[in-house]
Amino acid sequence: MTDHPVRIGVLVSGGGTNLQALINSQKKGELKSGKIELVISNRSDAYALKRAEKAGIRAEIVSKKKLGSSEAFEDRIRSLLDENKIDIIVLAGFMAILSEDFTRAYPKRILNIHPSLIPSFCGKGYYGLHVHEAALEYGVKVTGATVHFVNEIPDGGEIIMQKAVAVHEGDTPEVLQKRVMRLAEWKILPAAVEKVCAEYASK
Ligand code: GRF
Repeated sequence: MTDHPVRIGVLVSGGGTNLQALINSQKKGELKSGKIELVISNRSDAYALKRAEKAGIRAEIVSKKKLGSSEAFEDRIRSLLDENKIDIIVLAGFMAILSEDFTRAYPKRILNIHPSLIPSFCGKGYYGLHVHEAALEYGVKVTGATVHFVNEIPDGGEIIMQKAVAVHEGDTPEVLQKRVMRLAEWKILPAAVEKVCAEYASK
């Protein structure tokens, strides 16, 4: 058993609707085995930062551009995670690639949400709207979202949870993206984080 409540750090880059889903789940008492203690954004204009502020969560900006190199960028993130004693790291729309060194330092402690049913439409180049464009182009009738552990293979870590979502006739990538978020991402991300935190707490 860990001797403290599981501390969650969330890494973001954009709108932060998945971060909001985690905050809401914590408020409702569904996410209860861990607590969101830190939000790190690699973009200063990310609306996710406002969501963290509103929820009273410590938020930090770490800019690769300002720091000058990927090494300095990751070092700064690691120091913030260390200083805040973060146990579980959630990538919630974090649009930067983390090195093998970084992912190896947190085995089975980093989760990511991907907007397709892995192993479809994942890996290099499949991010954001591109994922939904590829799904529509292929003509799949069902897509969805996946929460998985992060390892050195892009989108290749162990799957924790998945949820399927129907593709509708006439869907645009934007319409499909919204449906996948509403019906899958915002549901399975908090559920998967709760599951991982509960397991981590019992170790
Ligand atoms: C989501 O579609 C997520 O699956 C992807 O990036 C998007 C982030 O959206 N990795 P938000 O910032 O959580 O609103």
